[in-house]
Amino acid sequence: QILILDFGSQYTQLIARRVRELDVYCEIHPFNHIPAFTPNIKGVILSGSPCSVRDSDSPRVDLSQFRGKVPVLGVCYGAQLMAQMLGGDVLPSQHREYGRAKLEIIDDDSSLLAGLSETSQVWMSHADTIVRIPDNFRIIASTDSVEVAAFKIENELSYGIQFHPEVTHTTEGKQLLHNFVVGICGCHQDWTAESFVESTIHSLRMKIGNDKVVMALSGGVDSTVAATLVHRAIGDNLYCIFVDNGLLRKNEFEEVLHSYLDMGLNIKGVDAVQQFYKSLKGLEDPEDKRKAIGRTFIEVFDQEAHLIQDVKWLGQGTIYPDVIESVSVKGPSATIKSHHNVGGLPDLMNLKVVEPLNTLFKDEVRAVGRTLGISDKILSRHPFPGPGLAIRILGEITPERVAILQEVDAIFINGLKKHNLYHDVWQAGTMLLPIQSVGVMGDERTYERVVALRAVTSVDGMTADWAHLPYEFLAEVSNDIINRVKGVNRVVYDISSKPPATIEWE
Ligand code: XMP
Repeated sequence: QILILDFGSQYTQLIARRVRELDVYCEIHPFNHIPAFTPNIKGVILSGSPCSVRDSDSPRVDLSQFRGKVPVLGVCYGAQLMAQMLGGDVLPSQHREYGRAKLEIIDDDSSLLAGLSETSQVWMSHADTIVRIPDNFRIIASTDSVEVAAFKIENELSYGIQFHPEVTHTTEGKQLLHNFVVGICGCHQDWTAESFVESTIHSLRMKIGNDKVVMALSGGVDSTVAATLVHRAIGDNLYCIFVDNGLLRKNEFEEVLHSYLDMGLNIKGVDAVQQFYKSLKGLEDPEDKRKAIGRTFIEVFDQEAHLIQDVKWLGQGTIYPDVIESVSVKGPSATIKSHHNVGGLPDLMNLKVVEPLNTLFKDEVRAVGRTLGISDKILSRHPFPGPGLAIRILGEITPERVAILQEVDAIFINGLKKHNLYHDVWQAGTMLLPIQSVGVMGDERTYERVVALRAVTSVDGMTADWAHLPYEFLAEVSNDIINRVKGVNRVVYDISSKPPATIEWE
């Protein structure tokens, strides 16, 4: 495997994605929590960083831990750190360098740049530059404004590059990473969805033995794939629980429960609708609603799990981006919304936790799901928030409001499917606004509710743009909603991007 040391760059996860795309396993660890060095680690990549190596408190590592033992590749800040710590000089760039540059290869016997075209497009994003390299460094590529765009340390397999090979704008970045990971580090390209499934099932069996595992399913991709893997490993010793919190989409509970039964999972559907509504009564603040839902969920789950005798493990669908310890070089990032399904459950009943997907990115989870034969209908579903429609109804939750929003939502989502637009958007949903507006139906004045449609394009939900859906489609959906859902007389379309807005309204 490849060890990626994170110095806080926004691109660190992207480096990991690119290495995984080469079918090579890698892990990200913070620069200040380096795992014990084992023979499995075939190479180290040092990430970029928002910090400057010139600052006295900038993040650093003791390079002698791995230099000379395995190949090392420093990217941007990582390269500057290597140069500076080994006796070179790094200074602020004369002009800040962001964006495209042409890389000119100077020393073409370097295996790092093998196969790259002579002038290759690379992507720069840095404010400092290496102005002097130590004696035992050799420059292997330059650009117009950056002399030390890539270097090699003589007599070692240590390299540094000032540009970012992980972004797609570096057109031959993948080739460069292939050269490093496969050519220089000698990693085997055998980390595939099939090999993951096989080895995970094996290790789950070893770990769990004849114990019982309990798991809450949500209908989402992650918990479904995780449960299927555990089920393949231990069969009906996996007890799944699917809770109806009364905040799901129209008919969602019955439909998803049926697909789980069809998949052969040992699942129990639990109707806890009234318990959730009761806990939400009178609450209007979004964070209060999230907390009430989180608390009620734990109560319901706890009660159900206690009905299973001798259960030892709690299964969870946690995925890699949730567990990567983020390096907070600029102080802890502010909590914008508390996503209730992170944390909470593991303390329950002293259960041991099993998280078979905690090394996978979302697209890898889908690939594993396909390998396991899970239907595309489940794998390609839009994400849906744990607190469900509760954070799409602005203000207090009442059964009547949930029912209205379910109808509106079903018209929008079914419309997207009917017009083959569902897979063009990353997530879609509707919001019930806490206002009424004047309208006219027939000869009557109406004073009814307003709903907002939201559809976004995104890669990971961290940033998003509003989906440019065709006007004709929006017109049809708006018409259908106003004609068919009693109590709604106005439909608006949300055209905000994230940031500065968020995907959900609460
Ligand atoms: P925001 O609104 O923060 O949403 O831009 C980003 C993604 O997270 C989902 N989301 C949640 N998921 N519990 C969840 O499980 C929550 O409390 C929650 N809030 C937002 C949202 O649907 C989107 O996919």
